[in-house]
Amino acid sequence: MVASPIPTIFFGYAELRAAAAELINQRFSDTLLQKKSFVLGCATGSTPEGVYTDLVKILQTQPLDETRLSTVNLDEYYPIQRTNPHSYHNWMLRTLWKPLATIDARFDYHDQAIIPMGEAPDPQREAKRYEQKIRAWGGVDLQILGIGENGHIAFNEPGSAKDSRTRLVTLTDSTRQANAKFFGGDVSAVPKQAITMGIATILEAKEILVMVSGKQKADIMKKIFSSQEPTPDIPATFLMTHPRVQWYLDAAAASRLP
Ligand code: GLP
Repeated sequence: MVASPIPTIFFGYAELRAAAAELINQRFSDTLLQKKSFVLGCATGSTPEGVYTDLVKILQTQPLDETRLSTVNLDEYYPIQRTNPHSYHNWMLRTLWKPLATIDARFDYHDQAIIPMGEAPDPQREAKRYEQKIRAWGGVDLQILGIGENGHIAFNEPGSAKDSRTRLVTLTDSTRQANAKFFGGDVSAVPKQAITMGIATILEAKEILVMVSGKQKADIMKKIFSSQEPTPDIPATFLMTHPRVQWYLDAAAASRLP
């Protein structure tokens, strides 16, 4: 049996996103003090969006050395062209990479930011290359995570194994439906597959920050926090085996916690 984590509960999303941005900034500054570089693991979706906006605001007023920042994304749809406005690549460009380059022109996202290539001709090979790249960068210092309504992390859908690595996966209908809002509400436009970091890859991050907002996540949060053991049925339960995870929830997401 694993001990249930103690979540930090915020009044609403505004407070949650501000605190998450502050934590990222803190970890980045601390790493710089140790004269090291910082690798931020990035998630996409509605929850991290405001966090990146708030982080950029903080860095605008107190710029750090952005040449020492790298970002590693969790996942990307497959197949998808990076120039497609719905690709996670494009979303990252708009939401974080370009704003960071505006703050510090030395931040070169061509070299300092990676995301699986949704247009790679051989997705298995791309998955292997991605794992190697993360390792070559010394691993992720702080991984930002959201939770899918079915308990997925990144695109590790229910049934994913604890030892899974970066790979090509098939998305569930419920995930494609939940993400249709990013494709103008058209579920048929959501790709059926994705390349995602595996559970084992995610658990190798030195620290993890899980952010969950909204009443649509209340049921899955109740299930996660009631689980006695990690189970592939709810991939997010594997996070309980990690020694350094923080859970940031807003009151709506926490409303059904046991
Ligand atoms: C997608 C992403 C996940 C993310 C999840 C929840 O499926 N692949 O990494 O955590 O959505 O996103 P949101 O924060 O929009 O609810």
